[in-house]
Amino acid sequence: MAMIAVDFAQPDLAALVEHSGRIVVFADETPDGDARRVDRKTRGAISRAMDSKAWAKTKPGEALDLCFPSGLQATSLLLVRLPRKAPAEIARKAGASIARGLGDAGALIAARSVATLAPLVEGIALRSYAWSMKTDDQTPPGPETKAVTLAVTDPEAAQAACADTLIRAEAVQFTRDLVNEPANVLTTTEFANRIEAMRGLGLEVEILDEPALKALGMRALLAVGQGSDSPTKVAVMRWAGAEGAPLALIGKGVVFDTGGISIKPASGMEDMVGDMGGAGVVAGVMRALAGRKAKAHVVGIVGLVENMPDGRAQRPGDVVTSMKGDTIEVINTDAEGRLVLADIMWYAQTRFDPAAMIDLATLTGAMIIALGHDKAGVFSNDDGFCQRLLDACTAEDEGAWRMPLAPGYDALIKSRVADMKNIGGRAAGSITAAQFLQRFVKPDLPWAHLDIAGVSQPVGETLLSPKGPSGWGVRALDRLVRDRFET
Ligand code: BES
Ligand code: MN
Ligand code: ZN
Repeated sequence: MAMIAVDFAQPDLAALVEHSGRIVVFADETPDGDARRVDRKTRGAISRAMDSKAWAKTKPGEALDLCFPSGLQATSLLLVRLPRKAPAEIARKAGASIARGLGDAGALIAARSVATLAPLVEGIALRSYAWSMKTDDQTPPGPETKAVTLAVTDPEAAQAACADTLIRAEAVQFTRDLVNEPANVLTTTEFANRIEAMRGLGLEVEILDEPALKALGMRALLAVGQGSDSPTKVAVMRWAGAEGAPLALIGKGVVFDTGGISIKPASGMEDMVGDMGGAGVVAGVMRALAGRKAKAHVVGIVGLVENMPDGRAQRPGDVVTSMKGDTIEVINTDAEGRLVLADIMWYAQTRFDPAAMIDLATLTGAMIIALGHDKAGVFSNDDGFCQRLLDACTAEDEGAWRMPLAPGYDALIKSRVADMKNIGGRAAGSITAAQFLQRFVKPDLPWAHLDIAGVSQPVGETLLSPKGPSGWGVRALDRLVRDRFET
């Protein structure tokens, strides 16, 4: 859904008095200049609020909402606690406080004293996200569309300072929309169409269809989709903002995962509309890079496929030959993500000879058991690369935690009849999945696997997203590119 409109204007006390939505002012130990002006207009509402116990308990980044303040037309006067030199994380939190419960009339934010505008704007843009297919919410946007205006001393400079932030936030919303959309809407073909539409941003896009995938030998990937009426596709996105070997981003795009013949229980199966979350993040990162014209070379490759039970579906016991040439015994057709990734990871390496590779996937339920919804699992064959990735996650406040890889785990996927089997048993389920993937990584290539099964769709709302898809990883990976891969 369309992102909230954010614009910048000169401060204007009259406009503040007349605004019909939410008025936002800032204070820490003392009110800032604009808050003092509003305090006079409201005959001391802010002074009284700041004398209260509630304000004493209001932490940096949090806010007190004074409803229907007299002296103003506003429905709400929001007093935000923001220290003068707040770190980005607190400013983002303040933005989220502004966005939470924001009405249709939007907000006018008296932001002259805010030193770090971009993270504040980021918090607003990310937390104001909403998505639904309720008919009531489908009315076309009119002039009354929700918007926030920041009143600052130099609106043009502020606009420029926040431009990349807004592009990134829009990319996060793009990813969240893809994850939200049900599988009857976001089919493999529709997902490919959404990616193709990004050509308008200057992204190179290629869609490989089933005959092309057959010719390449991607039989592991194709086996996953063979029970579905939706054709399996691979989308290759390339942003060539610099020369040299690219960073490769690989995404699992299972538009729906029934489990196949190893079918999942009915309860909760609907959550599998989000099993393309990895591909959604890759598409979102590519969108951000193209949008902000990043000086980096990055390829994004996603496998778009649907895992259905059918007369033509693959069976437990089938042996498939991967593009690499290794044979895989399919013990459980519900362990399909690794079959998808194996082929597109191999394709990425043989075609693009990347400098590094990161794959993202809602790969295992075991990841949720291990780390819950706060941190993604990170598996890597390279300590330095892994640390740079973790640093980017920290900088963007996106939880991540390193998990082990070791030969002992690899031994658990030995097969009697093929080079490997696609599951390792109950023990260490996320790790054996990662070991499976590592068999498709060339030994010297720095590689990281992100199992985002838990973080892609947290159970409740989070600081920066309402309940539903978080878009986890779009900002961290954009940050990694910005800090480590731009020329
Ligand atoms: N897409 C699922 C993993 C998943 C589960 C993601 C719950 C998000 C929430 C994956 O394809 C899957 O089914 N994995 C199996 C693997 C098992 C058969 C070895 C699982 O985790 O149960
Ligand atoms: Mn599955
Ligand atoms: Zn899956």
